[in-house]
Amino acid sequence: MRIRFETLSKSFDELKVLDRIDFDEEISTLAIIGSSGGGKSTLLRMIGGLIEPTSGRIVMDGQPIKEKGADLLKYRRSVGFVFQQNGLLKHLSAIDNITMPLVKVHGMDRDKARDQALHLLKQFGLEQEADKFPYALSGGQSQRIAIARAVAPNPGILLLDEPTSALDPEYTIEVLNMIRELKEAGMHFIIVTHEMGFARNACEHTMFLSGGKIREYGKSENLFSNPQSPELRKFLATLLEWNVKK
Ligand SMILES: Nc1ncnc2c1ncn2[C@@H]1O[C@H](COP(=O)(O)OP(=O)(O)OP(=O)(O)O)[C@@H](O)[C@H]1O
Ligand SMILES: [Mg+2]
Repeated sequence: MRIRFETLSKSFDELKVLDRIDFDEEISTLAIIGSSGGGKSTLLRMIGGLIEPTSGRIVMDGQPIKEKGADLLKYRRSVGFVFQQNGLLKHLSAIDNITMPLVKVHGMDRDKARDQALHLLKQFGLEQEADKFPYALSGGQSQRIAIARAVAPNPGILLLDEPTSALDPEYTIEVLNMIRELKEAGMHFIIVTHEMGFARNACEHTMFLSGGKIREYGKSENLFSNPQSPELRKFLATLLEWNVKK
């Protein structure tokens, strides 16, 4: 998928979060990294058409993201979104959480939606969980159901905003393994993450945001093994200093 940012800026009142970003690259799997408050979620939400730029625009495969109207809704439906907190509906079983949007948002026939949901649950080893309600799912299971829900309509791209940051390490691994499987099945995604091992080893490209700009971008392996800017070197060194992932 070709992603273009044209002098893209976003401010909240006086706060300039992203400052005249230009970018034009073919993306299949991309990690966005950077310090807290650096604008990663803001950028991802703009890519998903959930918030508007203050100025400039985003063009996906040659189509500018519209700011309103039917085209924007259509675009949003073509994107899968997964957040830090999975947002499963508490009064619906795992499988109904997946089928409901297929029926209500994508107009799919109910039986077909259920077949599709079951297929996904099987694919990811979650069929035992199909009829459980969210309170009965582990954190890792819930997040994997949320990812299954996002990929069920076959989105052109999956956007994940720190999908593992609320999880214990063992569940983090389950979720990251699922995302890697999706990658192997050909799914394109952009993930905001503090899991540097995942960015480096499972994402083809990495983008480092700092000071409202894309400070570095490139093949993940190059970017991590040979950081060019003092900002990225400092960011990576800080992670090492405490030997933590964030
Ligand atoms: N709706 C909003 N209204 C006002 N300020 C906002 C809003 N959304 C984000 N911000 C501010 O914009 C800046 C960037 O926020 P953003 O959530 O994009 O950062 P982030 O890189 O995702 O950080 P983190 O790693 O902590 O999630 C922060 O200073 C934040 O407080
Ligand atoms: Mg964020």
